[in-house]
Formats: sequence, structure tokens, C-alpha cells
Amino acid sequence: MRRKLVAGNWKMNGTLATNAALLKEILHGLGTLPACDVAVCAPAPYLAQCQQLLDGTAVAWGGQDVSVHEAGAFTGEVSGAMLRDVGCRYVLVGHSERRAYHGETDALVAQKALRAVRAGVVPVVCVGETLAQREAQQTGAIVGGQLDAVLAVLDDADLSNIVLAYEPVWAIGTGKTATPEMAQEVHATLRQRLARRNPETAAQTVILYGGSMKPDNARQLMAMADIDGGLIGGAALKAADFLAIIHAA
Ligand code: 13P
Repeated sequence: MRRKLVAGNWKMNGTLATNAALLKEILHGLGTLPACDVAVCAPAPYLAQCQQLLDGTAVAWGGQDVSVHEAGAFTGEVSGAMLRDVGCRYVLVGHSERRAYHGETDALVAQKALRAVRAGVVPVVCVGETLAQREAQQTGAIVGGQLDAVLAVLDDADLSNIVLAYEPVWAIGTGKTATPEMAQEVHATLRQRLARRNPETAAQTVILYGGSMKPDNARQLMAMADIDGGLIGGAALKAADFLAIIHAA
């Protein structure tokens, strides 16, 4: 049985003061141990704050990107070892905003996933199609290709330490959500593709849905057989909404 995971992606939002208030409210609202895993993926300057405020709680924290390099003269980059050093359990890899605005290719994303996993940080590998690709019936080929690039560089041990996130680009920040059936179809395709490589790992891999997940649609999405939680953008910045999604998991 896979344990569900609800992860917030704060993107480039927050201050020391607003983060502290948000985390305080989330911790307060969680009460006793939640029924699912919970994480927040914060901007790099705030990861130490997360460590300070979340260490020993039920909320894990993670980065939003990792360098493809191990260490050295790569100004502005953050390594997997650094993420590990500030206690990150997770790091987002290949978010569509990085693919679109920073030219990240499937091959680069795969190398980043490898760096993260080898540094002891779980990469949350994001895949998803654009609206044009969906309308051209290319969804399966696009997300399949994005996953295949990762499968090509990770060995079986690495693969058992990743999370996948299906985030249709057209649903991110738009208020348009994939229907539970649409999302389930893609999640099942991803799991089948993983199973071709290793059926046991495929059965264990957590596959999140992301893209305008909100309190009012979270329960139906997460009720689907292959949807193991959510990667939440906008709603993760409001404690009440984030908590409602966690309670729906
Ligand atoms: P929204 O929930 O704001 O649509 O963002 C989803 C997302 O990109 C999470 O990584």
C-alpha cells in the first residue's frame, strides 16, 4: 500500500515572516500525525528556515531545483549535497516552469534526478504535456518520453527512491484541472511504463497529480487508483487550503 504524499510547491513566493506564519498554522492544523506524508518545497534561501521550524515535525521540506553538477565553479547553483545538508527530503526536478523558462531538456532533468537521488534526496520528477500536445493526442508520447529519459539513467535502486508528479502544463495556475479520469489515465500509463522496467518498484512508486488541485477537487482526484497525492502550487500558500487538501488525502 502506497502512503499518500501532499507536497506544496511555494514557487518564488514568501518571506521569512510569511513562511513562519504559514508553517505555524500548518503545524497547528495538522494536530496529531497526519494520515499522509506532507512536505513543502521552498525557495533555496528559506530551506534553512524550514529546517529550523520543521525539524522533528510531521512536515518534511524540499528544494525546487538541483544542480546537475556535484560541486565547484557553478555560480548560483545548489547541489544535491547542499540540499541534503539542510535536511531536505525532497527536491522538485523538471518542473514545467524550469523546462519552459530555463530550457531544461528531458536528458538534463534525468541527470538532475540522478544527482538528487545519489545525494540522498528524493527527486520529485515532474512530467506533463502542454495544451497543444494534448489536443494533438500526444500526451502519452510526451510524458512517456519524459519518463523514459529518467529510466535510462537511474538504476533499479535509484528508481525505488523517486516520486513522480504528473502536472499537465495547461492545468498549472490556470484553475483548469484534469478530471480525475483524465489524470488517472495518465498516471496508469506512467505506472505501466515503470512496470515494464521493474514491476515491484512500479507498484511502490508514489505518483502525484499537480495542476490547480484545490480543497474542492482534491478528494476526487486522490480517490483514483493511481493518484497517490498532490503537488500543490497556489493552494499551498494558504494554510487552510493546504490543510484541507491534506485532510482529503
Ligand atoms: P497550481 O496548484 O498553482 O496550479 O500549481 C501546480 C504546480 O505547478 C505545482 O508544482
